[in-house]
Amino acid sequence: MITERLDALRAPEAAVSRAAELLRAGGIVAIPTETVYGLAAAADNDTAIQRVFAAKGRPQDNPLIVHISDWEMLSRVAREVPPEAGLCARRFWPGPFTMILPRGDGVAESVSAGLDTVAVRMPSDPIARAVIRAAGPLAAPSANTSGRPSPTTAARVLEDLDGRIDAVVLAGECSVGVESTVLSLAVTPPRLLRPGGVTAEQLRELFPALAVDSAVLAAPKEGERVASPGMKYKHYAPCTPAYLVEGASDAFVRYVNGIGDRVAVCFEEELSHIHGKKLSYGLSSDGAALARRVFEALREVDTMGAAAAYIHAPSKEGIGLAVYNRLVRAAAFQVICL
Ligand code: TXA
Ligand code: MG
Repeated sequence: MITERLDALRAPEAAVSRAAELLRAGGIVAIPTETVYGLAAAADNDTAIQRVFAAKGRPQDNPLIVHISDWEMLSRVAREVPPEAGLCARRFWPGPFTMILPRGDGVAESVSAGLDTVAVRMPSDPIARAVIRAAGPLAAPSANTSGRPSPTTAARVLEDLDGRIDAVVLAGECSVGVESTVLSLAVTPPRLLRPGGVTAEQLRELFPALAVDSAVLAAPKEGERVASPGMKYKHYAPCTPAYLVEGASDAFVRYVNGIGDRVAVCFEEELSHIHGKKLSYGLSSDGAALARRVFEALREVDTMGAAAAYIHAPSKEGIGLAVYNRLVRAAAFQVICL
């Protein structure tokens, strides 16, 4: 299959209308969003959804997020909309925020992987919204091969999926860089299943009793039921074995300088103190920058030809929690505390 390149930087309207045409005909198309690029299919088209799972090599028990462009679309995909959903929508939509609601008729069963709930998000990216307005609700997981770091540029989408999908919309870099926050409103109190662009602190302003799923920071135990199936897999991983290292800057620098064949993934301010292979993913004090760079850094690790990667863990405050959550999975939960 030849993957069409739809250049939204040069001709946004033509790119949007071709993407929507392909999607309405059952195609699968990678589109930009403010978080990461998504691999979209019509949410009510079971055959197209199956193609998304196949192109990504995604496990069948891991459900997809349905993307809508306006509030009216919500009633097509969710059976019930509790008052908490309105509260969240007013505060966090459009934006990097997903809520779990009872699944409605307009969503193919395969989207929810057998669950009776559906994950719904309204992205803020103007290209994503225009495609959804023209094509209807779209199911879209991140546009990477399952298990690989999520793509924040169209070039990274093509690295994984060229020849496996109908088209990719070429747009700029994603502005948030990590995926949306996933909040379950199907339980009381609401439960944070995946940290993301909307922070736990922001959620607690609305829900002081917010529950945080154990899968956010720790590996699930053998046989444990996971509320958000996507959180149980080794994920976002470079091919190079990776370790997450917790500790102060001087301790991290000393530790990695004592290891021979490795790449250090460090903070900008540490770069000049580290010998050998190294790459920075931003200033430790700038969580938003770390989020924008983290997946790109994980992909760059594999180009450095090192036996292992040692990644300095960010603070778990604010969006740092989302960055930490992705890195601890990329490291298959191998954490070194200095
Ligand atoms: O920012 C994002 O959310 C991006 C962009 C493309 O919108 N999408 C994304 O999709 O990250 P994906 O498939 O990579 O992650 C979806 C997450 C998974 O952890 C999945 O298990 C969870 O959402 N999820 C989906 N439906 C669910 C449901 N009904 N109940 C619980 N978790 C659900
Ligand atoms: Mg993903």
